[in-house]
Amino acid sequence: MDVKALVSQMTLEEKAGLCSGADFWHTKAVERLGIPASMVSDGPHGLRKQDQEGDHLGVNDSIKAVCFPAACATAASFDRQLLRTMGEAIGDSCQHEKLSVVLGPAVNIKRSPLCGRNFEYFSEDPYLAGQMASSYIQGVQSRNVGTSIKHFAANSQEHRRMSSSSNVDERTLREIYFPAFETAVKEAQPWTVMCSYNRLSGTFASENHWLLTDVLRKEWGFRGYVMSDWGAVSDRVAGVAAGLDLEMPSSCGINDRKIVAAVREGRLDEKLVDQACERILNIVFRFVENARPDTPWDMEAQHELAARIASECMVLLKNDGGILPLNKEDSVAFIGEFAQKPRFQGGGSSHINSFKTTSALDAAKGLNVTYAPGYAGNETSEEMIAQAVDAARKAKTAVVFAGLPDSYESEGYDRTHMEMPACQNQLIEAVAAANPNTVVVLHNGSPVEMPWIGKVRAVLEAYLGGQAVGQATVQVLYGDVNPSGHLAESFPVKLSDNPSYLYYGGEGNVTEYREGVFVGYRYYDKKDMNVLFPFGHGLSYTTFEYSNLRLEKGSMKDCDTQKVTVTVKNTGKRFGKAVAQFYVGAVGGDVIRPVRELKGFEKVDLAPGESKDVTFTLEKRSFAVWNSDIHDWYVPGGQYTVEVGDSSRNLPLRAEITVESTAELPRHYDVNSIFMDLMADPKAREIIKPLLAARTIGDHEEASDAAQDAISDEMNMAMMNYMPLRAMLSFGGSEETAAMIEALLKALNK
Ligand code: BGC
Repeated sequence: MDVKALVSQMTLEEKAGLCSGADFWHTKAVERLGIPASMVSDGPHGLRKQDQEGDHLGVNDSIKAVCFPAACATAASFDRQLLRTMGEAIGDSCQHEKLSVVLGPAVNIKRSPLCGRNFEYFSEDPYLAGQMASSYIQGVQSRNVGTSIKHFAANSQEHRRMSSSSNVDERTLREIYFPAFETAVKEAQPWTVMCSYNRLSGTFASENHWLLTDVLRKEWGFRGYVMSDWGAVSDRVAGVAAGLDLEMPSSCGINDRKIVAAVREGRLDEKLVDQACERILNIVFRFVENARPDTPWDMEAQHELAARIASECMVLLKNDGGILPLNKEDSVAFIGEFAQKPRFQGGGSSHINSFKTTSALDAAKGLNVTYAPGYAGNETSEEMIAQAVDAARKAKTAVVFAGLPDSYESEGYDRTHMEMPACQNQLIEAVAAANPNTVVVLHNGSPVEMPWIGKVRAVLEAYLGGQAVGQATVQVLYGDVNPSGHLAESFPVKLSDNPSYLYYGGEGNVTEYREGVFVGYRYYDKKDMNVLFPFGHGLSYTTFEYSNLRLEKGSMKDCDTQKVTVTVKNTGKRFGKAVAQFYVGAVGGDVIRPVRELKGFEKVDLAPGESKDVTFTLEKRSFAVWNSDIHDWYVPGGQYTVEVGDSSRNLPLRAEITVESTAELPRHYDVNSIFMDLMADPKAREIIKPLLAARTIGDHEEASDAAQDAISDEMNMAMMNYMPLRAMLSFGGSEETAAMIEALLKALNK
């Protein structure tokens, strides 16, 4: 389709109209020109296609569909192929349902465990989130269906979500809040990007030219269209100028008319409107020309796929004495309402009308399992507890199904604490007191405090595992599937340990991201704090050994790449999957940075006794920090560590590598530049050397013995180091000294 030619035939009114939705889920058709309407739909872990009355918070029913595990779970798989496979299945369903774009993935960083939407987001780590997002996008788009990576950007809280300003410094944006979007755009080229509700340092994302045009398009090379989150538009004309192509859902034509008026009055260049239309139509026709409505949607097969995916995502947090897997012959009591009615998805716009669900109780049919509900909703009673305790006593093992109820976490608001409902904690305590073999299965979208952790033998984190979660849970509990999930987020001991604790939510409409780059494990590791479970943690029913860390060479230039290889061996008796994690950290240096950051990972499956080599590539971004003076990535030269293992706190292999920086930071010296900095710069050092030899300042040789006692060599050295150039004047200078400083600065800044 010659989209340019088409746009040239459109009236200004038609063009402005195309820049907003026809209704909740459709772009506008222009019948006289053969432009069809095109439908988008949530997303991200299944289809929420509303055939009837639209709404964006999942209030009205959507068509029956398959609910896959939410992102909190899928990220824990650390499995790119798995995300791709899930994307392919969702892409097929979209083709079947004639949906041009699925609204996801959602890649916002989990700044705090409190964010109501954490269940929909991947990780506290930008590298992991980027990898998961790219894989999902590639999967969906391989079916010629678009994605809408969201919510761009820095949308890490629900509190005041449509008005709040996320005030994030440049380096933190670049190192933490941008990379998941950046990686996905560069690697997977999503057809669309959804800008977020919030403001970014004062300017609404939907009006932010720097964000939507300079960074997204010019720097990263995004080629699709940008749509607003539903109702995220404040000033539509500013939005068009900033690069917001499509307003969703619509503004009853009011904003369309504002666009027309702005063009007519010369306030908005019509070319920008044309450009938005071209971008939208490119995608509309890309879908139309590749539509395959005959694509089958086999929901039963996808239910099985959802079960397999869920089983690959579960994280075995604790397994004392190898109490899991359970023996199929042994008597087991399933306790807790979630065993019968699992919580498997979150509330809000991602809510899917599942065509069926499998609970753990359904899946355990035929096994030696009894059941006691233990609680109903957020309540329990003495009778329910007594019944649960009785069931626990009679069984060899008690498995309590617990976690967070719907009301505790959802799109639209944040949690205020990290506790599970009191009735559930009470139940776990009572059951654990009655049966020493107590296991807890958790259904939750983000971390919870576990006051009972010392009293139970095992904990299986099932997250919000989709409609087939019960099936997957039983497979993992009984060892048909060996758990291989690893945490994509840290579980702090308590809420106040979290680095954003002091500032999260903000004051009024301003939220300062003051912890900067120290999000999640980047903070806990730097502070050397205890956590309940660290980022990357996950146990298995087998054991793995990491050995033989090999670098190609011990040093490299920042513009080069090199491979790092380790050997992973299954040293146990079961088939299993290991997640090899590669972390890089700087040794010393002037930049305040995390101890280590995830820069690579690979999931490998291994038969008992089998070994495999796992490789990842070190490149500039493995070492770089964002430098806000040059507004670019920069690798400080020096020593770096490469650590490998199976969690951020279990890294048995470590190597050091020297990295040479090939970029030179611009320097400017003035009278307030201090000697230490001058000495650290090889060029400046040469220039000031003669000066130091002449001992112009800081010379205490002639001081009395008593005075010398008062000034240690260390102090003398420090005083000297921290002296600015102008000190040469203050301490016994002359007209000549002043002239000399001036000449010196000229030479230094040449
Ligand atoms: C959410 C988006 C969603 C949209 C459409 C908004 O409220 O923030 O994630 O895609 O609604 O349902």
